[in-house]
Amino acid sequence: MTAVELALLGGSLRPGSVSERVLRACADLAVDRGARCTVLTATDLDLPLYQPGATHRRPAAAGLLAAVRRADGLIVVSPTYHGGMSGLLKNALDHLEDLAADRPAYLDGKVVGSVAVGWSEHGAATTVAALRTTVTSLRGWVTPMAVAVNSIELAAVEDVDAAIRADARLMRRLTILVGQVTDFAGRGSAARLVPSA
Ligand SMILES: Cc1cc2nc3c(=O)[nH]c(=O)nc-3n(C[C@H](O)[C@H](O)[C@H](O)COP(=O)(O)O)c2cc1C
Repeated sequence: MTAVELALLGGSLRPGSVSERVLRACADLAVDRGARCTVLTATDLDLPLYQPGATHRRPAAAGLLAAVRRADGLIVVSPTYHGGMSGLLKNALDHLEDLAADRPAYLDGKVVGSVAVGWSEHGAATTVAALRTTVTSLRGWVTPMAVAVNSIELAAVEDVDAAIRADARLMRRLTILVGQVTDFAGRGSAARLVPSA
């Protein structure tokens, strides 16, 4: 059986980024479920501002498009900046405009799970809503589950990975989200293997 392919996008350029640690926790959960994961962190997504119609894209932008084209599903994890997703992540998602001529176009047929990190659940919840709006604009299929993470305590600990794994409630929510993405993505990839009449 072919493994489900996922692209995981997110994190911030801040050293010790909590959203990057949450992104990596999602990747570990997905690998445990047999998925193959391409993880693109803020360093990989630090692209020039999206320029419509440009004929040349930098290798990092081409890498993003290749990872998304290959993927059956995506997980996006953004920090909350002033009530929404970071400019870095929005700019990366704007680059998916280059998938407009694909068939299917954009993220059509790909399941997308959204996670946001902020200094409060309220702040992160607004970012989750923004992420889901952008994903649906790109024709992605949003998962019923989304996760808003309060980073105020996580950012203060020395070992963020250990703190995330010790937070049973957070891990349970991430496990449900990753399960929905891998399960739906698996159905999509199986459907694509069936030859059309
Ligand atoms: C420019 C900026 C704006 C922010 N705005 C908000 C906000 O509106 N609401 C909120 O809950 N947290 C806000 N935060 C807090 C971040 O979401 C929080 O520090 C988060 O952990 C950042 O992600 P990171 O740890 O991956 O860098 C802001 C942080 C920065 C740097």
